[in-house]
Amino acid sequence: MSDAPVVLGIETSCDETGLGVVAGTELRANVLASQVDLHARFGGVVPEVAARAHVESVRHLTHRALSEAGVHQTDLDGIAATQGPGLVGALVVGFTFAKALAWALGKPFVGVNHLEGHLFAPLLGDPSFAPPAIVVLASGGHTQVVHLADWGDYEVLGTTIDDAAGEALDKTARFLGLGYPGGPAIDQLAESGDPTAIAFPRALPDRPYDFSFSGLKTSLITYVRQNHHAGTLPPLPDVAASLQEAIVDVLVEKTFNAVDATGVKVVGGGGGVMANSRLRARLQEEADKREVGLFVPPRDLCTDNGAMIAVVGSHKLARGEVTDLGADVDAGLVLGVS
Ligand code: KG4
Ligand code: ZN
Repeated sequence: MSDAPVVLGIETSCDETGLGVVAGTELRANVLASQVDLHARFGGVVPEVAARAHVESVRHLTHRALSEAGVHQTDLDGIAATQGPGLVGALVVGFTFAKALAWALGKPFVGVNHLEGHLFAPLLGDPSFAPPAIVVLASGGHTQVVHLADWGDYEVLGTTIDDAAGEALDKTARFLGLGYPGGPAIDQLAESGDPTAIAFPRALPDRPYDFSFSGLKTSLITYVRQNHHAGTLPPLPDVAASLQEAIVDVLVEKTFNAVDATGVKVVGGGGGVMANSRLRARLQEEADKREVGLFVPPRDLCTDNGAMIAVVGSHKLARGEVTDLGADVDAGLVLGVS
């Protein structure tokens, strides 16, 4: 048993109500109420629907997380919640609930940057994950290559100039009639497809750490329309595998550009797209070639969850970093030196 702070983490930045309990990096509980079915019929997340659904689940999920962790709320050392970035109405639900709980229990409160949560998530799979590291963060809202000089000291080396990787998967999957979210559907379909069937573009070859995915989306749509009319469209698994390969190629290439330029020996991954089987395998191949350590969280901790917010909260609390109860959410919060 560690004596690291026991923290309840609350994540409500988008469409998952996530509650987690950790003691330092030790996972005690992680429970989730996914809103995927609620938003699926709209083909994407509807902010007002998301906020209301968080209101409905946050209280009973808190009870469930504490009971699974075997922790009474009075035994918590602190409460952490996502402060941003995200949908403002959704953020307010978890953040306000967490502040009220902290106030009622007389416990410290910690506001957490959602992206910092993804950066810390590899610790939940392997507590030996440590800076200096290059971390690739790919989700529905963000695609970044981050130099993690130290905990709390982050330099974003590159980012997407338009769509995020997950957004590209979600939009193209919607066009292909695969439903929402698109990433898992494309991952599964691609398993039986040929990744070399269609040569989709790999954007920004001259910018070592930056991404662009909107051209890829347009290219896929144009390709499918033209070939569908001509009756020359390859089977759907080949389309999915080729699209996935184009995204994975650039994510892997730009991550290892940063690894090679900085000479770091540790690579991390975070965000929902990191659940992708092909991406995980390709990152591992490149890491093995260079004999660097690869740390990616288990699949269910790649996508949004409360445990990753709790880990950051516990880390900050151990350093005496707390957030004033007068603090508010910040939908546009960025990653930097905290
Ligand atoms: O981190 P996350 O849960 O939420 C954001 O912060 O955006 O990421 C969600 C994104 C979605 O775009 C979803 O399609 C993608 O992660 N995703 C995947 C997989 N599972 C989720 N993308 C590729 N392969 C997967 N297996
Ligand atoms: Zn996320």
